[in-house]
Amino acid sequence: MAVGGVTLLGHGRLGSAITEGWRLTGTVMDPAILTRAVPPVCPADTRALVIALKPAVWREALAPMAATLPSGATVVSVMAGVRAADIAVVLPGHPVVRVMPTTAVALGQGVAAIWSDDAPARALAHLLFAPIADTVDLGQEALIDAATAVAGSAPAFFYALAQALTVAGADAGLSPDAAARLARGALRSAGAGAATTASLDDLIGRIASPGGTTQAGLQALQDAGIEMTGRAAVQAAIRRAKSLVRDQSA
Ligand SMILES: NC(=O)c1ccc[n+]([C@@H]2O[C@H](COP(=O)([O-])OP(=O)(O)OC[C@H]3O[C@@H](n4cnc5c(N)ncnc54)[C@H](OP(=O)(O)O)[C@@H]3O)[C@@H](O)[C@H]2O)c1
Repeated sequence: MAVGGVTLLGHGRLGSAITEGWRLTGTVMDPAILTRAVPPVCPADTRALVIALKPAVWREALAPMAATLPSGATVVSVMAGVRAADIAVVLPGHPVVRVMPTTAVALGQGVAAIWSDDAPARALAHLLFAPIADTVDLGQEALIDAATAVAGSAPAFFYALAQALTVAGADAGLSPDAAARLARGALRSAGAGAATTASLDDLIGRIASPGGTTQAGLQALQDAGIEMTGRAAVQAAIRRAKSLVRDQSA
């Protein structure tokens, strides 16, 4: 059954991906969408206010509508780098739940980390996101930064690896176009495997036979420090998220 009383503030890349996913899955059929073009007034039946603004503008955007948020409404923030305590200062008395989804929610195939210290708020977030994402509960708010790095940012990391493979393929004699199409195709194949319930070890094992060509490539990745590279990317993204939190709180 569709969830009612949902208002969305900010309808950019992530906000529109969320509404597409809701429409596709019938989760929320008619969310009220507050953009810059409409008066900043929350509908009186708002049960959940989903904030999908850029961290740099959220305070100024929320200020004019804060007084119109009905008491009892839950705030669902999908913003990276904005702490629940800071939102609670602007919207006092409202439970806050933080959700960190990927834009694949548009296809009902996202992943979303969820944190709140308020159990009903967490349950409401599950109601809104479980139909469009694999929902992962976090035990502490601070882990949102790690989840953002490992899920939110990581699609770009996989694209970057596909770009590196494209360059390597061209170096090995493929035309740039052929190399790019082959690397993208490989990324799609990997995504299809990831969409199943098979473990990552099993997925690798299905492709890499002992002593074969894939095994040789995997060994080269290990030798070149793939684990260190993954750790460096995740730690850099976490450091940046923490510095954004400091900027927001200043
Ligand atoms: N994109 C992702 O993959 C992703 C993933 C996880 C989390 N997030 C988080 O999601 C949030 C939004 O990111 P995004 O990529 O969707 O950014 P975006 O595309 O720039 O969307 C932000 C939207 O907010 C609107 N906006 C700005 N001021 C407003 C106001 N006063 N009233 C109503 N709407 C207003 C913007 O409208 P204008 O275009 O008119 O300025 C824009 O449509 C960020 O906090 C980000 O950390 C994004």
